Amino acid sequence: MKLADNKATLSFSNGGPSVDLPVYQGTVGPDVVDIRKLYAQTGMFTYDPGFLSTAACQSAITYIDGDKGELLYRGYPIEQLATQCDYLDTCYLLLNGELPDAAQRGDFHKLVLHHTMVAEQMQFFLRGFRRDAHPMAILTGLVGALSAFYHDSTDINNPRHREIAAIRMIAKLPTLVAMAYKYGVGQPYMYPRNELSYAGNFLRMMFGTPCEDYVVNPVLERALDRIFILHADHEQNASTSTVRLCGSSGTNPFAAIAAGVACLWGPAHGGANEACLNMLEDIQAQGGISKVGEYMEKVKDKNSGVKLMGFGHRVYKNYDPRAKLMQETCNEVLAELGLENDPLFKLAKEVERIALEDDYFVSRKLYPNVDFYSGIVQRAIGIPVNLFTGVFALARTVGWIAQLNEMISDPEYKIGRPRQLYTGSVRRDIGAAK
Ligand code: CMC
Repeated sequence: MKLADNKATLSFSNGGPSVDLPVYQGTVGPDVVDIRKLYAQTGMFTYDPGFLSTAACQSAITYIDGDKGELLYRGYPIEQLATQCDYLDTCYLLLNGELPDAAQRGDFHKLVLHHTMVAEQMQFFLRGFRRDAHPMAILTGLVGALSAFYHDSTDINNPRHREIAAIRMIAKLPTLVAMAYKYGVGQPYMYPRNELSYAGNFLRMMFGTPCEDYVVNPVLERALDRIFILHADHEQNASTSTVRLCGSSGTNPFAAIAAGVACLWGPAHGGANEACLNMLEDIQAQGGISKVGEYMEKVKDKNSGVKLMGFGHRVYKNYDPRAKLMQETCNEVLAELGLENDPLFKLAKEVERIALEDDYFVSRKLYPNVDFYSGIVQRAIGIPVNLFTGVFALARTVGWIAQLNEMISDPEYKIGRPRQLYTGSVRRDIGAAK
């Protein structure tokens, strides 16, 4: 962190003493005002619910310029990573800061692809769930439960433990997500095959059965790999901040990542792709394309409480760069599967067309986000709607781990402990109320 030439001065209209606050510069992006000593100097806290203006940490992993619609992992534009690298290269980059050379690439791919199996006991643990349990409920449990199976990698303060836990989680998440799916549909679990690619292996564990050989379709394999790359990290969003906050207590890495899975489940975050598909299915059930206009009126009516799912973003006030790449993949997958005329996909295109022209969305800079298209692609591949967020969790695991490990290695790291503006009752006695 570099100290800027200027400083901030905070003064109060009641004539209290003003305070000078240091300003720091990042490599790109807004400077920050350091308020760490504010309470000691003034007896006041800052107030910023929703963290609209608060940087909770320094980080060198991911940079987003929301106005430009730019996303960089370790400095590399997402467009280059999505077209020139695969997901495991991206994982290596996020974890280590640099893209792997040929030897490192081979070693890393082998390391991840040879740790895909989970402890056999895991399937008995899974049996405790109802068959109709939401996969995210199952995943929250399974990821947390990894700490009960892998005792040798639970010390978050031990760099070697962190490294082993990282590989374990990246390698095993596809297996767990596929197990959650197979359990729900009552089919046998498919053990991973290490000779397949990360995405190919996931497709086989999802859609293969022991009754016949499964041939991986390269177009779907590439599409899935791209979904993974685009969801790998997104700086300090709700689930990543949850992982950091949870991990800041010194809890084990599996527990911290399970907290991220739980947070991701919400419809305003990772649950948006599921909510988006449910929304499209609702419109379809009400009459399809002819009802889009009516639905849009509801979305624009503030009293209806209805939002256009898959649109809008806290950070992007321009086209989400991931959405553009996902849109490309979406067209490729629909063409490969001959689904261009599927009514739901036509409906999605109509929603997109109207929203991109409507002044309500244009004036608020509400563009389709990555989840609008990733839901459509996943549905086309055959992934059930309630598993979409699980796939997102699988892909985001590496980002959560990279951010968690960065925090633990930061000498300035402290347990996270926000403060509050208390607005409840002042001290009172029970006797007086009786
Ligand atoms: N539909 C209708 N109106 C919207 C929407 C939407 N999807 N998103 C924002 N608005 C309106 C909002 O009501 C507000 O209007 P006004 O200024 O008249 O009060 C204005 O646009 C600004 O929105 P905001 O509420 O200040 O935006 P936010 O930063 O608090 O919320 C968001 C961001 C993602 C929670 C929100 O856009 C949303 O709920 N979108 C739908 C859910 C969704 O697709 N989420 C996935 C996000 S991308 C995946 C990820 O990175 O996790």
